[in-house]
Amino acid sequence: MFSQINSFGLNGLDACLVTVEVDMARQLPGFEIVGLPDAAVKESRDRVRSSMRYCGLEFPQCKVVANLAPADMKKIGAIYDLPILMAVLGAMGHFAQECAHSAFVGELSLKGDVRPVSGVLPMVMQAKAEGLKRIFVPVDNVAEGAVVKGIEVYGVPDVSTLLQFLDGKGGLSPEPSPKVRENGVFYGDFCEVKGQQAAKRALEIAAAGGHNALLIGSPGAGKSMLAKRMPSILPPMTFQESIETTKIHSVAGQLSKDTPLCVHRPFRAPHHTVSPAGLSGGGSVPRPGEISLAHNGVLFLDELPEFSRPAMEILRQPMEDGRVTISRVSGTVSYPCSIMVVAAMNPCPCGYFGHPTRPCTCSQQQVSRYLSRVSGPLLDRLDLHIDVAPVEFEQLSSSQPEETSSAIRARVERARAIQTARYEKMGITCNARLTPSMLQEACPMTDDAVALLKKAFDKMGLSARAYDRIVKVARTIADLDGEERIGKTHIGQAVQYRSLDRKYWLNGKN
Ligand SMILES: Nc1ncnc2c1ncn2[C@@H]1O[C@H](COP(=O)(O)OP(=O)(O)OP(=O)(O)O)[C@@H](O)[C@H]1O
Ligand SMILES: [Mg+2]
Ligand SMILES: [Zn+2]
Repeated sequence: MFSQINSFGLNGLDACLVTVEVDMARQLPGFEIVGLPDAAVKESRDRVRSSMRYCGLEFPQCKVVANLAPADMKKIGAIYDLPILMAVLGAMGHFAQECAHSAFVGELSLKGDVRPVSGVLPMVMQAKAEGLKRIFVPVDNVAEGAVVKGIEVYGVPDVSTLLQFLDGKGGLSPEPSPKVRENGVFYGDFCEVKGQQAAKRALEIAAAGGHNALLIGSPGAGKSMLAKRMPSILPPMTFQESIETTKIHSVAGQLSKDTPLCVHRPFRAPHHTVSPAGLSGGGSVPRPGEISLAHNGVLFLDELPEFSRPAMEILRQPMEDGRVTISRVSGTVSYPCSIMVVAAMNPCPCGYFGHPTRPCTCSQQQVSRYLSRVSGPLLDRLDLHIDVAPVEFEQLSSSQPEETSSAIRARVERARAIQTARYEKMGITCNARLTPSMLQEACPMTDDAVALLKKAFDKMGLSARAYDRIVKVARTIADLDGEERIGKTHIGQAVQYRSLDRKYWLNGKN
């Protein structure tokens, strides 16, 4: 007897249909799995056998061959346990009818419990695209699957319950789509940060233009606090962005039952000891790394100089391309990573260089060496350097209400709308993505703005690479003001955000 069952495998972020065929022949008893299975798939044999025994079913006393098609795709992990078991039952003459137009994914325990797997969201999306009527997934993953409308998604706790249901005795029902909480809690609101007007304004500019930013300040100045609130002033994710981000978290196995859909822009803050692979993704079963988990959101690099060189270097390409490619023996996968990078650092080893009251105890060389730990090309990609001065006591203790994130976000969204309209035909979305060749067209300046820019270069000793950055940031400031042309004040403000380019920092204390 022969039977076949639909299942799904992962290829990067996308799922593809895998057909599990089982054939039984009157030969010496045996159980084989073919079709490029890895070790975990081969071990399915034991889990399937044992699960059947636990459910009171006898494994057929003949030669059983399970084939996973297409044969040229590598099958990874234990997700094929459940479909293999169903295909074996089918070949024994059970439930063939009931399994038509259905798909199964899930790992089994020896006792027949169905264990969670990663990547259920893209699998359910693909099942729907294939025109299937229903899909059975592990009960722990059912919430993320149910996000997809137009297909019945069943959460299966164990094999017995599933068989009872297929037998027409009930016990399972399609999962309703989860209610998406529109106004869930962010990591915090900007109104909780007292004072810090200058830093808040700078972060508003960063959010408005999609600029990467570097916060520089003494310990306890509030850098981490400010950075964490960054997602709360970015425009809300579109449904499409939300699905994309959720897919990455699904494939990484990072979705919880309570948050089946990522509705807020992610905020990822990997520790500075993170390995390059932890950032970019990798592993024998390739998994998305921190860069991709931050897709459509913020990647926060706290204590930037403490990150290893290789870790910093690995960020360069993905920051530019919005995609990260991982090569493995099993093939190449690529994950999207459209991110905003916010980094934080102390200005010097002791932390108090430039502090209004506490003296810095570092030598000039120590300060330079500390700064030079940050990879140049990475520093180059951080458009805004934001000096975070410690907040004064009067402000900390003041009961004056501070502006909320949603008020700031409203201005950010207005500035983004201007950019969307301007770049409609240029293939970019925000000012941060302007290439040198686009600058001229997108950034017209008044004469006194040009004059000020020239003066800034001559007098302040700005580096050449600062030019593009200043113009882009000035473009965003002008957009926030609703101005078509970049004026003198916009340039003036933008220049302030290049503190690391000013010569005095590297060449001597002022
Ligand atoms: N402007 C502020 N308003 C309210 N609380 C603040 C402010 N600045 C700092 N704090 C308080 O100080 C704590 C420390 O701030 P935070 O951790 O953000 O500092 P940091 O600049 O990241 O320091 P480090 O360099 O040590 O990492 C915050 O958790 C917060 O409680
Ligand atoms: Mg901190
Ligand atoms: Zn110091």
